[in-house]
Amino acid sequence: MTYGNFFAGKRVLITGGLGFIGSALGRRLADLGAQVILVDSLIPEYGGNLFNIDGCEDRLRVNIADVRDEFSMDYLVRDQHLLFNLAGQTSHLDSMTDPYTDLEINVRSQVSILEACRKHNPSMTIVYASTRQIYGKPDYLPVDEQHPLHPTDVNGINKMAGEWYHILYHNVYGLRATSLRLTNTYGPRMRVKDARQTFLGVWLRRVIDGEPIEVWGDGKQMRDFNYVDDVVEAMLTCAADPRADGRIYNLGSPESISLADLAQQLVEINGGGTYHIIPFPPDRKRIDIGDYIADYSLIHNELGWQPRVDLREGLTRSLDYFRKHHPHYW
Ligand SMILES: NC(=O)c1ccc[n+]([C@@H]2O[C@H](COP(=O)([O-])OP(=O)(O)OC[C@H]3O[C@@H](n4cnc5c(N)ncnc54)[C@H](O)[C@@H]3O)[C@@H](O)[C@H]2O)c1
Repeated sequence: MTYGNFFAGKRVLITGGLGFIGSALGRRLADLGAQVILVDSLIPEYGGNLFNIDGCEDRLRVNIADVRDEFSMDYLVRDQHLLFNLAGQTSHLDSMTDPYTDLEINVRSQVSILEACRKHNPSMTIVYASTRQIYGKPDYLPVDEQHPLHPTDVNGINKMAGEWYHILYHNVYGLRATSLRLTNTYGPRMRVKDARQTFLGVWLRRVIDGEPIEVWGDGKQMRDFNYVDDVVEAMLTCAADPRADGRIYNLGSPESISLADLAQQLVEINGGGTYHIIPFPPDRKRIDIGDYIADYSLIHNELGWQPRVDLREGLTRSLDYFRKHHPHYW
């Protein structure tokens, strides 16, 4: 990518910085010479894990704080050049059983973070982690940014609102905010202890433990995946390029794959394992989105981003990581 030494010496705040993507981003920014503060609440049910910054502790500052705490955020955004806003409640199912917590974290906190930026640091650049979930069950494939937004769950509605607050604060107050609609992201340090983040995490754990993978539905659902390093590059590209200000971009992959084929590929790469295709649990079926494939040509054409790590390579790296470090994850 073309950001050169843009990040050297930059003061950077990452909310959700001890989570899967936030910690990968923090590590990369430290390598690029940035002064990074990771803000994370470490709520046990969520994806934050101190081991995610293992070996990097001396180059990353950690602030255990909750983004729902307006006073902390009001203070933390001051004097920072960049904010990567990744803290979130990520479970679709939890958002249905406890919609208020999702609302507090994914909407109300986003407003208070943006208010803090508007009041104390209006020249800061912000990159927000949105999600493909906000499209709901696609009307057509591949899904471009013009596709209607009709989420199938509470989390999708709240992430949609979180995204649009960022865009609104750009349009009305000139805050330099970009929103990236991530598709399924995977890689080392992802949440694997349960299916709160994505089903692929649980699959990685089960295949390593020699347990059968469960594929829900008919196994024909199509999905696309991004390896975490590619997502980190997209975030850095947006932060460094003023053309991204006020823009919304899909991320995606040139490879798409059915869930049954993905399970098969994982078993092959692992060198053993089995998978079963079983009916959806009813609570999952109600919020399932069917097939999803992103059209990511907008960010490719405007900023030159494209994924570099193919699925086979990414799955191999992920399995290697979790085989080595699984006691820290389950
Ligand atoms: N992983 C994916 O496939 C994916 C797909 C689409 C969008 N996203 C978005 O990317 C962002 C990062 O996701 P991730 O995959 O790294 O998940 P993650 O759960 O590993 O990271 C989220 C982090 O936010 C922290 N957090 C949650 N609530 C908080 C609060 N109230 N205050 C402070 N910290 C809090 C968690 O402790 C966790 O470390 C999320 O906003 C998510 O919605 C992820």
